[in-house]
Amino acid sequence: MKRLDKLLASTGRWSRGEVKRLVREGRVLADGRVAASAEEKYDEETVALAVDGEAVRLSEYVYVMLHKPAGVLSATEDGRGRTVLDLLPGEYKKRGLFPVGRLDKDTEGLLLLTDDGALAHELLSPRKHVDKLYLARVDGVLDGSDAEAFAAGMTLGDGLRCLPAGLEIIAPDEALVTLREGKFHQIKRMFAARGKPVVSLKRLATGPLTLDERLAPGEWRELTAAEIAMLK
Ligand code: URA
Repeated sequence: MKRLDKLLASTGRWSRGEVKRLVREGRVLADGRVAASAEEKYDEETVALAVDGEAVRLSEYVYVMLHKPAGVLSATEDGRGRTVLDLLPGEYKKRGLFPVGRLDKDTEGLLLLTDDGALAHELLSPRKHVDKLYLARVDGVLDGSDAEAFAAGMTLGDGLRCLPAGLEIIAPDEALVTLREGKFHQIKRMFAARGKPVVSLKRLATGPLTLDERLAPGEWRELTAAEIAMLK
């Protein structure tokens, strides 16, 4: 728990003295209520602060969950077409937000964007083995032999050895796939090697972060303090 004057002064936008004045003038909202004193204490992870009606960001970094639609590229700039940054307000591009990892152009689902390079590095590090969960629909009928092949760790035609992966069949042509790595077109290549090409692919989760099902394709929201804490 930290004092309100300390929390707001930590943004560098106001001195502690200025915060005291703002509070006296009734211009500071903490969790939706007018703050009565600059000495009130709040949890910096969860408190929602606003000055003159404008939300104040306490965190140094921004974390955005995007429901990536099919048809856009997981890049910041690309001469060849629309990128995921084009789906967000311009201020995020200016801050230098970038996607954490890539989804293929035709893959949809959870994509995290941030300007926190250290966290992105952790999540992408092959050594960390952060699980990624996908929903795949294939052209073909899945069976136990596919699950066994995924679990054993497949070797693809070009010699790529995949780590063991999870395959939970939920319909004859649909499965939940858990990957601990993210090689180029990996899921498509694994199913292609089984003779059952992928028809559609959607990422549902990365580590503990799950796609918010209230977000339609193309929609986004910032992560909650609890989600950021979980990722870290
Ligand atoms: N595997 C793929 O083949 N494509 C993706 O976008 C993600 C995982």
